[in-house]
Amino acid sequence: WRGPEPIELRPDYMHWNLPRRPADGHKGDFGKVFILGGSEGYTGAPVLAACGALRTGAGLVYVGVPREIYPIVAVKCQEAMAFPLPEEYDKLLEKARSCDVAVIGPGLGRHPRMERLVRSLLCDLEIPVVLDADGINALSGHIDSLDRRRATTVLTPHAGEFVRLTGCALPIQDRVTAARTFAKDHRCTLVLKGRGTVTAAPDGRTWLNGTGNPGMAKGGSGDVLAGMIAALLGQKHLQGPHATVSETTALAVWLHGKAGDKCAQRFGEYAMLPSDLIGMLPEVLKENE
Ligand code: APR
Ligand code: MG
Repeated sequence: WRGPEPIELRPDYMHWNLPRRPADGHKGDFGKVFILGGSEGYTGAPVLAACGALRTGAGLVYVGVPREIYPIVAVKCQEAMAFPLPEEYDKLLEKARSCDVAVIGPGLGRHPRMERLVRSLLCDLEIPVVLDADGINALSGHIDSLDRRRATTVLTPHAGEFVRLTGCALPIQDRVTAARTFAKDHRCTLVLKGRGTVTAAPDGRTWLNGTGNPGMAKGGSGDVLAGMIAALLGQKHLQGPHATVSETTALAVWLHGKAGDKCAQRFGEYAMLPSDLIGMLPEVLKENE
């Protein structure tokens, strides 16, 4: 038995699920997002995640990057607050703990020191974490770092990252079952990206996304999604008690693909860029407010 069929993500469902902003809300009410990423040559990834989060309603966004790229990242950030990673682990932990949700991984690279840092944070951080890209790669051979988490984790691998994480073979034969099995076994939310992104919940439910197109197959699209998921998780309390982390994640996946489809209409699949996705979020979110 492979489990129930996935739930198809539909616009009416999305509308129902988008958080309302209280009239008297202040920035602290809309979530503080902590982003850890970037490395030499990958200064754009954490910024794309930060902008994805801001354009999805996050109240405050911090971007921690290696000291050597900090000046470059800081110049790219307007609303997001970049900072160089402190030498002392405890200082970094304190900063991350003061936030509501973290994104770990965009552009981080695979330096062993960074991979150890990722695993330490997963162990010590009690806030929800969106683990993306090299953050996921840091788990290969160390899946216990995921299993021991004390707060919820959302993993957003593409097929290659999923294969590295699980050791399964490419092409993944049954993406829904693969995602469902992983999410159940490791009590996390798993987003298996690509055409027809599957979001799987620890309770066995899955959602199949119909938005998105191959114009999004460009480095950076995934970083935007990671930021969007974190922003909605940081505002999840606005959705009321019924919304789960996995449903909120599926909503972000749908909105991200919707932005992609609007970009394809406006700019074409060849020319559209991940930063255009961010530019399209106002239109997409406004329609679903
Ligand atoms: N149809 C629909 N959606 C698509 C399609 C498609 N044909 N192709 C890509 N997408 C969407 C995916 O669902 C996902 O949301 O675009 C996004 C791409 O995300 P990633 O695969 O994570 O790519 P990205 O992170 O932007 O760039 C490549 O991944 O392998 C790592 O280190 C590498 O940083 C690099 C990064
Ligand atoms: Mg990626």
